[in-house]
Amino acid sequence: MKKVTTSSLLKMKIEGEKIAALTAYDASFAKMFDEQHIDVMLIGDSLGMVLRGDDDTLSVTVEDIAYHTSCVRKGTSRAFVVADMPFMSYATAEQAFTNAAKLMASGASMVKVEGGNWLSSTIKGLVERGIPVCGHLGLTPQSVHVFGGFKVQGRETKQAQEILDAALSLEKSGIQLLVLECVPNSVAKRVSAALSIPVIGIGAGAETDGQILVMHDMFGISANYMPKFSKNYLAEHNDMRAAVTAYIDDVKAQRFPSSAHSFE
Ligand code: KIV
Repeated sequence: MKKVTTSSLLKMKIEGEKIAALTAYDASFAKMFDEQHIDVMLIGDSLGMVLRGDDDTLSVTVEDIAYHTSCVRKGTSRAFVVADMPFMSYATAEQAFTNAAKLMASGASMVKVEGGNWLSSTIKGLVERGIPVCGHLGLTPQSVHVFGGFKVQGRETKQAQEILDAALSLEKSGIQLLVLECVPNSVAKRVSAALSIPVIGIGAGAETDGQILVMHDMFGISANYMPKFSKNYLAEHNDMRAAVTAYIDDVKAQRFPSSAHSFE
């Protein structure tokens, strides 16, 4: 079984094969997702909401992500493992270097940071030090209180252009993957076409290079809130493995997301 790497993810974009991704937080689910051939697993700071029951992701620590990354790594043979850098763990470049090193040592193959141009030199420094980086633009949940809630981003022309400019700037700084969250289809389409690196969408329509869902949303078991852009695959398939396979197949065949799970 060939391991998924930054090179194979790039090849998938070039060849038009959609990337299927899920969040994961423990070894058992990681093993199940890996066996169904998920391409990417993210140890998301969404764990603050779906595991701990918080209203946002802000209380999650580097130690939390490191612990869950080590669990996921043990269940993973094939998928590419990305770990989230929590709120304020990369506020300065020095903090980013120290904390990203902890997450890589725990088993991540890449770290994810939320934000635009202000991160350019931090990303460059991480990549120079051998740490691959995934960007995250659009609705960046660590900034939920700046946005005034979990709201679709990029609906206005100026904001859409800012997202595109930030994506290009992050790519120039060295990111090898980008998560684009809760933006209109048209914005995601423009960003995915403009970038050479793979763009993975969540609530960003079908025209990105791949899709990611929070695993609890995909199973329809999230404690608090089910976002409009998510789909409950367990309801249709009545078996966890079958639900994961159906999600992966739908992403690969571009059946998910439909217009019902996207924003115009
Ligand atoms: O924390 C998380 O799970 C994420 C995904 C929603 C992309 O960042």
